[in-house]
Order: sequence, then C-alpha cells, then structure tokens
Amino acid sequence: MRRPRTQMARLLFLPLMLPLVLLFAAHPVQAAVSSTLGINYGQLGKDLPSPSRAVQLIRSVRAARVKLYDANPAILSALVGTPLQASVMLPNQLIPDAAANQSFADHWVASNLLPFRSSVHIRFLLVGNEILSDYSVRNSTWPHLVTAMERLRRSLKTHSLRRVKVGTTLAMDALGTSFPPSAGAFRPDVAQSVMAPMLRFLRRSRSFYFVDVYPYLAWAANPDAIALDYALMEQGAKTYTDPASGLLYTNLLEQQLDAVYAAMTRLGFRDVPLVIAETGWPNGGDYDQIGANVYNAAIYNRNLARRLAAKPPIGTPARPFTVIPTFVFALFNEDQKPGPGTERHWGLFHPNGTAVYGVDLAGRTPDAAFAPLPAPTNNEPYRGKIWCVAAAGKEANVTDLGAAVAYACGQVPGACGAIKPGGKCYRADSAVWHASYAFNAYWQQFRRTGGTCFFNGLAAQTIQDPSVGSCKFPSLAS
Ligand SMILES: *[C@@H]1O[C@H](CO)[C@@H](O)[C@H](O)[C@H]1NC(C)=O
Ligand SMILES: *[C@@H]1O[C@H](CO)[C@@H](O)[C@H](O)[C@H]1NC(C)=O
Ligand SMILES: *[C@@H]1O[C@H](CO)[C@@H](O)[C@H](O)[C@H]1NC(C)=O
Ligand SMILES: *[C@@H]1O[C@H](CO)[C@@H](O)[C@H](O)[C@H]1NC(C)=O
Repeated sequence: MRRPRTQMARLLFLPLMLPLVLLFAAHPVQAAVSSTLGINYGQLGKDLPSPSRAVQLIRSVRAARVKLYDANPAILSALVGTPLQASVMLPNQLIPDAAANQSFADHWVASNLLPFRSSVHIRFLLVGNEILSDYSVRNSTWPHLVTAMERLRRSLKTHSLRRVKVGTTLAMDALGTSFPPSAGAFRPDVAQSVMAPMLRFLRRSRSFYFVDVYPYLAWAANPDAIALDYALMEQGAKTYTDPASGLLYTNLLEQQLDAVYAAMTRLGFRDVPLVIAETGWPNGGDYDQIGANVYNAAIYNRNLARRLAAKPPIGTPARPFTVIPTFVFALFNEDQKPGPGTERHWGLFHPNGTAVYGVDLAGRTPDAAFAPLPAPTNNEPYRGKIWCVAAAGKEANVTDLGAAVAYACGQVPGACGAIKPGGKCYRADSAVWHASYAFNAYWQQFRRTGGTCFFNGLAAQTIQDPSVGSCKFPSLAS
C-alpha cells in the first residue's frame, strides 16, 4: 500500500448520506455540509482484527467514511448494511494496464466494484497511491495516470456507478515549493505533463484533489523552526503571516493545504476542491524520532476532528468556509510496515483491537471526557547514543536472521570481521548475538542517509550499550 513516508515526501456515518449528496450536487460551493472525518484502513499488520471487528472499531470512533488501499472484497462485504462510505483504490501496478486497455479497466470495475453496487456506498475510486513520489515508475506509470483515471471513469459509467468519483492520492512532494503557502507550486517535472491534465479531468468530472498531508513530517524535519503547538493545531499557538498574501495562519495543516491551493491556482484550477486523503500523527517511533508519542497523536487528531466538525466549516485562510473531507491515518498500528518506527505507529488501535488513546472523530467529545494521556517524553530531540540490535522478545527465525545478517554485512564491507570465528565478538552458536552486531554495524553506517533499524521486524533500536568486554558496538551520538 504505502511507501514509507520519508522526511522528503512526507495514512464514518449515516447522517452523512444526505449531506454528501448535497456536497456533490452543490460542488464546488459546499456551504452547510460537514466534513466529518473518515479513516484509512491499512492492513500491513500481523494478526489484525477481522474486517467485521474492524468495522465495529471504525464506528466506535464515529468515523463516517473508510478508505481502503485496494478493493478488498472481505472488507467491502463487512461494510454491507453499514452507513459507512467507502473509498477504494486501484493498485499502482495496474495503472499502465488500465490506461492501455479499456476492457481491462471495465473488467476491474466489474469484478471489484459491481458486486457491491447496491450494497456499499462506494464514494471514491482512487487510481494509485502517491505515485508521483515513486521515481522508479516515472517512465512506466506517470505518463499513463490521467488516461487510467479517464478509462476508469468511463468504466464506472458503463456499469452505472456514476456517483463514484475518480481521483488519485498525492503526497506533498507533488509540490516543488510549499513555503510561504502563497508561493505553492507543483514540481516542474510534473506540473505541465501530469498535473495540468489531471486537474482538467478532476474539474470536468467534479472530483477532488486528494492530498496526503502530514504536519508531523514537516515539523519533525525542522522542529527548531516550527513550533510544536502550531503543528498540533493547539489554540494560542504563535501565528504565521504569509508575507505575500497577508493571510494569517494559526496552524501548520492549513498552511500546507493553502500551498496546494496556490499550486492549483497557479495552473489555472482555482476551483478544484481538496480531500485530505491522509493526515495524522504517530503515537510512537524510534529513539531518534522526535515528537512521536501518544499524547501528541491524541491532541492532533482530536483538534483535527473538532476543527472539521465546526459549523459553518472553517476551511483555510485562502479558502475560508470550504468543506474538506478528511481521512485520518490510520485505523491500526501496522507492525509490518518497513521504514522508521513511526511507520508502524499511526494507528488509533493496536493490532489486538484495543484503543491507543481515546478519540471521537465526530469532534463532539471534550478532552475532559477522555482518560488522561501519558505525558509526552520525546518532544525534544534525543541526544544520547543509540544502537540497533536484534529485536528482543521475538523468536528469531534463524533462516530469516541469517539472510538479514548477510545483507547487512554485505552492505558494509569489512564491518562483520568481529563476528567471524576468532573475532572479538564471535560466539559459537549465537545467531542472535551476531545479528545484533551486524544490524548495528549496518545502521551506524547508514542512519544518517535514511537507513533504518528494522530488517522486517528482526531489529530494533536500544539505548542500552550492548557491548560486552572487548566486543565493542560502535555508536554515533544522535
Ligand atoms: C485487455 O484486458 C483484457 C481484460 O483484462 C484482457 O483479456 C486482454 O488480453 C487485454 N488486451 C491487451 C491488448 O492487453
Ligand atoms: C526514464 O527515461 C529517461 C529518459 O529516457 C531516462 O534517462 C531515465 O533513466 C528513465 N528512468 C527510469 C526510472 O527508468
Ligand atoms: C494490546 O496491545 C497493546 C500493545 O501491544 C498492549 O499494550 C495491550 O496490553 C494489549 N491489550 C490486550 C487486551 O491484549
Ligand atoms: C523461517 O522463515 C522462512 C521464510 O521467511 C520460512 O519458509 C520458514 O518456514 C521459517 N522457519 C521457521 C522455523 O519458522
């Protein structure tokens, strides 16, 4: 589903049925419609609850919509008979086929969506996920994106699914400039070739620009320049005034959204409305990741829900009173996502189905009604030493461990001499110990350039020096 959010780039409700009809009918003027929150339902976790249990959890936080990263029939079946609206996704790798071949697009819609035509409120069909962030498909997929969107729209019409809006999700890195917000502009490599035809399609089909927007990532990349309370949408945060537009910003999310509006306006598409396809805040992460904790995650998502529930809608400084349908990322902490620790900690729920913290996505519950939150412990950068070792508590699969060690040692020539027979860190029959040594050697080498301490869950960071006697594990201070 999702590529890891790198710093550079960057995952509910019946009363909504009527307003959404209005929303589409009245688009782009959407006054008097609420932007109640939806939720992203990713599935990259081991032992996640069943779809029907997941649907109960979605409803328990009063989400009105659910966004999938595919068109999983088991999940769509679990939505039958619920008021939840669904957003489904055509996987990235199918885009070239969908663009090349109308019958492929027709067949995909017929086999994935048609069975649910009259039983699930499918609202959005998203054609790929953040594909403009993936330069490896620059030639194979980017040029075909808009054609695929057009073909799928035709297929939806053919199958009498006209009310499903077609879009695609883009990360903030579709913009080459996002600050100050009035200077927002798409990247030169996609502005004319992809964005202009896409926006023309979105306008013509009365659809939306779907943006993944993470104030957390912008703040964590630059915590000295951006105030945490501004990123968390707290009342009373120091404001920012855009020197060109004169508009006053009270939070980072609206600042980022206005950069997107400015980029669209620059290309002549002032009127295409936004959907926030993903936003959220991680509830945990690695030692070297700042501000990822339960406290901040709860505050961000609660503030988000309250702002979006406001009537009349707040919108943004550049688009006041605009309704912005929004999907929080994400339903579950997904323990099989690669990348830094935050990637596995975006959920409102643990994989066992218990809540990470209380939240009401309908935005009507005051903070005092929730259980107290644990105080944040990592809102300042961690400055001590960190090591990367074989994850504790896991029954390591020796085959997997061996493959990971071979990879790690192969990436850092000479680094694993110490765990060869006769080396300072060699221990007979200790695959786990040797793995710790190799993982640490790898990570110390590559952490500055984005290398992560994960190895498919076999590795984790520690702040306890694992060195024993003359076997020293190196560590650079953060
Ligand atoms: C087009 O898609 C259909 C349905 O998937 C497939 O049967 C057919 O072989 C495809 N045609 C081409 C030229 O790829
Ligand atoms: C895409 O095509 C360009 C120009 O033909 C080429 O230089 C580049 O290496 C290609 N990139 C990928 C990822 O295939
Ligand atoms: C669910 O998982 C979380 C996180 O691993 C854990 O803290 C909690 O105790 C678990 N709850 C139950 C009921 O198993
Ligand atoms: C270890 O993992 C491999 C594949 O990752 C699997 O084929 C093998 O059965 C596993 N071994 C054990 C003992 O679980």
